[in-house]
Amino acid sequence: MRLLRNVALLVPAVRRLWDSRNCLLTERDALLTERDALLTEHNMEGRLKNDDEWFELQFRPEEALKKYGVMLPTLPSDEVQISFTGLCGRANLQQAFNFYRYICSVCQINDIREPRILDFGGGWGRVSRFFLRDTLPECIFISEVREYAIQCIRATGNRCQVIHNQPRPPILELTGLFDLVYAYSVFSHLSGEYVHAWINYLLGVLRPGGYLVFTTNGQQFIDNLEHLPLETNDPNLQELFRRLREDLPLPEEIRRRHLKGEFQFYPLGVGAELTSDFSGETLIPRSYIEKNFISFFVDFNENVPNVDQSVVVFQKPA
Ligand SMILES: C[S@@+](CC[C@H](N)C(=O)[O-])C[C@H]1O[C@@H](n2cnc3c(N)ncnc32)[C@H](O)[C@@H]1O
Repeated sequence: MRLLRNVALLVPAVRRLWDSRNCLLTERDALLTERDALLTEHNMEGRLKNDDEWFELQFRPEEALKKYGVMLPTLPSDEVQISFTGLCGRANLQQAFNFYRYICSVCQINDIREPRILDFGGGWGRVSRFFLRDTLPECIFISEVREYAIQCIRATGNRCQVIHNQPRPPILELTGLFDLVYAYSVFSHLSGEYVHAWINYLLGVLRPGGYLVFTTNGQQFIDNLEHLPLETNDPNLQELFRRLREDLPLPEEIRRRHLKGEFQFYPLGVGAELTSDFSGETLIPRSYIEKNFISFFVDFNENVPNVDQSVVVFQKPA
């Protein structure tokens, strides 16, 4: 190629050929951009507005591509999925989908053309895949503290912008401001210091009027603690249940503190990148949220269908 370029500089006929080749390449790029824009418009114009259809398409990626031009990432193995959320298959996606629908209903994200979205602690990309009908993959950022999670996202062929962040803010690779930042089951595992540091930081990367939506442990977590199974088939879950039984106070004590409005963090540290100085089980009651973040507070919902944690909604003042 270098030789051809050098010859092209010397011989006028070859140079003309070289120039027309470059023109064709530019034209091809323009056509590809136009095709992408048309596909986006095709989605945005509403053919993919049907929620049930969009959920079912997660299991029929060829149809999503053929009919709507949406290239869905693949799904990881059941084992990988369980290692993130204790669930797999349809039930796992259903939980993520219900969270996604709740976000859309509260934050009117569908009113924005190509919204910029950050999935903080995005795991293998379970939730972010649903936003692929609302915006372009390059407008979706997924950040993760664990190298393992980054590998899992990449293994699904996810085309969103994937960032490996440090346990503490900032996230240096982030560019521009976001319309929406969300985090499922991340603030249910961080210490008080980290929760405050990350909430303040994530509010800072929102545009005025943008939303921060996150989940944390609450009443449902305490109910589950009261009914932890003694036996499971999964050795990792078995070990987690043992630690929840042995390293945490009794459920009635946790409930008492929760109802009193206490922020509770129990360090459990479950891996090299999730050390016990900042990682464990966290419960944040509504009154604590209201007291500490009143100027951003929009909603606290413990009953989002299928979602096993409390969902908190903040909005950055416009
Ligand atoms: C229970 S998983 C949930 C994953 C994903 N949000 C989902 O709902 O499928 C929690 C994730 O948060 C990530 N995480 C924990 N602390 C983090 C931090 N400081 N920065 C980024 N990610 C973090 C963990 O690596 C883990 O993948």
